[in-house]
Amino acid sequence: MATHTSPSAGILSDEHRPQRAEIVAMLTKAYWMEIETVMSYIANSVNPDGVRAQEVVESLRLDIQEELGHAQQFAARIKELYGIVPGSLEFSPEQTYLQPPEEQTDVVHIVKGVIEAETGAIEYYNRIIKATEGIDPVTDDMMISILRDEEGHRRLFEGFLREYQANGLA
Ligand SMILES: [Fe+2]
Ligand SMILES: [Fe+2]
Repeated sequence: MATHTSPSAGILSDEHRPQRAEIVAMLTKAYWMEIETVMSYIANSVNPDGVRAQEVVESLRLDIQEELGHAQQFAARIKELYGIVPGSLEFSPEQTYLQPPEEQTDVVHIVKGVIEAETGAIEYYNRIIKATEGIDPVTDDMMISILRDEEGHRRLFEGFLREYQANGLA
């Protein structure tokens, strides 16, 4: 793919072409996960009714920008690794657990859905970190800092759930 001499070391070297393709595929999946999370968080930051929903709605509103930033970072890294950021027709949704609840006051449903989404991201990003360790330090570093964001999101919503459980609401 590279038209000039490729670097002799690192993930951009000819020798690492197969690993590069593998990392691009993983980043592409991660990109779609973030895009779907943005969609789900927008809906769930607008739909809920009630006093109890307000904290959750505000947190989701802030998270949307962070998740969007993650998607943009993944897209940029895909390009740097000679991949192509896919078009929207390649998207297929997976977040069954983050669909709008029957009742728009059902905040617990949303909190549990967010925890599931963040857990999925944490698990998958840990896999990418393993796959890039010692091979692609730049992607590795990026993933570690994004993983920290996701762990923070998960911890926050876990705290919301604890409160609902303590109050017998979940
Ligand atoms: Fe994210
Ligand atoms: Fe997140």
